[in-house]
Amino acid sequence: MSPRKIIIDTDPGQDDAVAILLALASPGDIEVLGITAVAGNVPLHLTEKNARIVCELAGKPDTRVFAGCSAPMLQPLVTAEHVHGKTGLDGPQLDDPTMPLESQHAVDFIIETLRNEPSGTVTLCPLGPLTNIAMAFRKAPDIVERVQEIVLMGGAYFEVGNITPAAEFNIYVDPEAASVVFSCGRPITVMPLDVTHKALTTRARIDRFRAMGTKVGDMVAAWTDFFERFDMEKYGSEGAPLHDPCVIAYLIAPQLFTGRNINVEIETTSPLTRGMTVADWWGVTNKPVNAHFIGDLDAEGFYDLLVERIGQL
Ligand code: BDR
Ligand code: CA
Repeated sequence: MSPRKIIIDTDPGQDDAVAILLALASPGDIEVLGITAVAGNVPLHLTEKNARIVCELAGKPDTRVFAGCSAPMLQPLVTAEHVHGKTGLDGPQLDDPTMPLESQHAVDFIIETLRNEPSGTVTLCPLGPLTNIAMAFRKAPDIVERVQEIVLMGGAYFEVGNITPAAEFNIYVDPEAASVVFSCGRPITVMPLDVTHKALTTRARIDRFRAMGTKVGDMVAAWTDFFERFDMEKYGSEGAPLHDPCVIAYLIAPQLFTGRNINVEIETTSPLTRGMTVADWWGVTNKPVNAHFIGDLDAEGFYDLLVERIGQL
């Protein structure tokens, strides 16, 4: 089978960085058509730069990186330096990238790619706020039916919120965009906090990256060392959730994940619960299924995959 074509839409972020590395390390399974940066964890000028840093680290400077939207559709940007540090990739010292940023806007790249590739052959992988994807769908509604699948990190049901008591960060930053995406009618697989909080970077797992003895392995260990301090203090857990790599791991090894096909809607109006993913996990409504909502994973298998693939970079 030929590799699955994807666009990674991202706001790196250490966990986004690991997701990008996993994708770039898996050319037999995944063809990265482009990486589109969006404002999220940190402002856009840093997320696009961080995406390029990660491509260079992976030894793939030919990867095309595009800058997209610098602010959500309606509201001001909310960022997460308290988790990821001032640069978004805090931890080890990093050199500025030398590979170029593409001149085309990320939204136009998404539109053009979906129009040019055969219909139903491109999967969108959002790892940050959904602004770029929703703006592309708004600007060019004809592309929506051409999307193969959307596999995204965002939302929560059992774990509820991480940025407010009710909302997960990626959805909270741009609920209007999330609402556009969740109502688009194409197949959506969701990696909510319910599953990512089971993908914890324990000491033993971080040591496996360090034991690779490569620049990339050292960097992944240092990044995860840095950002796990926040979640360990907050949740009292033995590590931090490696959220975004769940999206890429699902494309490579879907058997590692289990979930339910359910209705998910986004709260956009309530000031108290804005950005909440209202997930009908228990099937208490007759609302139509619009999402494959993941709830569990084989965490050891997930880390085995990360170590095996990232070890090849
Ligand atoms: C999500 O928010 C970001 O901080 C992470 O990169 C991840 O995409 C988790 O809520
Ligand atoms: Ca992210």
